[in-house]
Amino acid sequence: MTLRPATGDDLAAIMTLERASFPTDAWSEAMMREELASPHGWYVVDDEAGRLVGYAGLRAVKDAKDADVQTITIAEASRGRGRGRAMLRALLAEAVSRGVADVFLEVRADNPVAQALYVSEGFLEIGRKPRYYQPDDVDAVVMKLDLRGWSASAGSATRTGGSATGMDGGVCS
Ligand SMILES: CC(C)(COP(=O)(O)OP(=O)(O)OC[C@H]1O[C@@H](n2cnc3c(N)ncnc32)[C@H](O)[C@@H]1OP(=O)(O)O)[C@@H](O)C(=O)NCCC(=O)NCCS
Repeated sequence: MTLRPATGDDLAAIMTLERASFPTDAWSEAMMREELASPHGWYVVDDEAGRLVGYAGLRAVKDAKDADVQTITIAEASRGRGRGRAMLRALLAEAVSRGVADVFLEVRADNPVAQALYVSEGFLEIGRKPRYYQPDDVDAVVMKLDLRGWSASAGSATRTGGSATGMDGGVCS
């Protein structure tokens, strides 16, 4: 697994994975292009021998104390091997380096796998947005991570079990 920052050249491969991962509510190519180009964003890709098998994005506005996990996905064939956690930790480490205090995200209520990942990194549920994901009519679970606590616990080799975004209708936020 090789994690590296995403570039504009990754857009096509990211969109292929986006549509496969989120068949009912994939972002448009235009939205994703904007995300990749935004000075407030930071996207990482998991590159396996030149093949993009995952990507994840953070939105952290300069000098803001809050940040958002915008999205995260791993290609179906590559799931369950720690890659998702590695990308999430890369986003959180970037947020630490930007001086962020709290990280927020939204996740579908019918996505127990992603919720388990977030909870195992220390995210707590702080609310719900009823019927947030359309057209599927699924609630969003809003989660928050105290990044200082996450960072203090080493971000972490010892951990076990491991929107203000303007992107409504998106995946995680
Ligand atoms: C969510 C996702 C990114 C996790 O990536 P992954 O590489 O499969 O996950 P990892 O192997 O790093 O596992 C991390 C944790 O996720 C949870 N998890 C992973 N696969 C799971 C499964 N099949 N069942 C239950 N929990 C699971 C576990 O808590 C796991 O920790 P553990 O291995 O210590 O038990 C991946 O499943 C995915 O791309 N899903 C589709 C897109 C999506 O739903 N994105 C989230 C949008 S908010």
